[in-house]
Amino acid sequence: MANGLLKGKKGIIFGALDGKSLATKVAERCVAEGAEIVLTNAPVAFRFGEIQKLAERLNVQAIPADATSLEDLSNLIYQSIEILGGKLDFVLHSIGMSINVRKKRAYTNSKYDWMQKTFDISAISFHKLMQTCYEKDAINDWGSVLGLTYIAAQRTFPDYGEMAESKSLLESFARSFGYHYGTRKKVRVNTISQSPTKTTAGGGVKGFDVFFDYADKMSPLGNAPAEACADYCVFMFSDLSRYITMQNLYHDGGFSNMGMSPAVLDLGEE
Ligand SMILES: NC(=O)c1ccc[n+]([C@@H]2O[C@H](COP(=O)([O-])OP(=O)(O)OC[C@H]3O[C@@H](n4cnc5c(N)ncnc54)[C@H](O)[C@@H]3O)[C@@H](O)[C@H]2O)c1
Repeated sequence: MANGLLKGKKGIIFGALDGKSLATKVAERCVAEGAEIVLTNAPVAFRFGEIQKLAERLNVQAIPADATSLEDLSNLIYQSIEILGGKLDFVLHSIGMSINVRKKRAYTNSKYDWMQKTFDISAISFHKLMQTCYEKDAINDWGSVLGLTYIAAQRTFPDYGEMAESKSLLESFARSFGYHYGTRKKVRVNTISQSPTKTTAGGGVKGFDVFFDYADKMSPLGNAPAEACADYCVFMFSDLSRYITMQNLYHDGGFSNMGMSPAVLDLGEE
């Protein structure tokens, strides 16, 4: 069901790795709604992922960029404006990776150089991206910048490790940069806090499948699927949401406001 909500809008989508990626679903929905987009991901994702296939299928260009590199970000933004024939209206940051979690290092025995790399990839890259756009005046007035986050920024989920702090930092950057971008260009900056979703990054968290079922039972509407997350992103990129900024927006079927659910108690009795 497409309504041309993004007709005439131009954007960059970070983080489409394969068919399960949240960014892949967002890219598909944005194009269906009439947007012109450029896809990007880390150079290594071009070797091992499916981004080129997605770009061909959507008939768009894909440009490699390591989101921690200011030089790569600068080239990406410059090239995207060339390809799209004008400044940007929206950007999706859909990037996350924890080195300590990936290497199965206990949270209480974290390696700090890995932790810093995790923060750089998963959170500081969001600031770098916005600062690069800001300096180049790359986003049109009333543009929309989104990052994807998780409720581990507010509550403790032990197996999420240092990604919890990464998401806190990411959400804080959205608020702080949202102030500066809002006053200067009316550009809005928000984060969407998504339900657990079966993707490569999601599956990297220990016990993910059990936790996925728990969250599904705990949420009155059930876990929000990737396709619904894409719908929400389209709304946030559209003109319908132009006064929403500096927010962390829960897209989680109600999970964030639950205390206990009888459906979860039933699980224990099964
Ligand atoms: N899957 C979930 O359960 C879930 C829930 C809430 C939020 N999120 C967030 O959604 C976002 C997307 O994750 P996903 O679940 O679609 O998994 P995914 O693995 O498909 O996407 C993560 C992306 O980050 C990219 N990336 C890693 N390092 C990078 C770098 N240096 N430069 C550029 N890109 C880099 C990867 O190549 C990959 O495309 C992440 O921020 C994640 O934390 C996921």
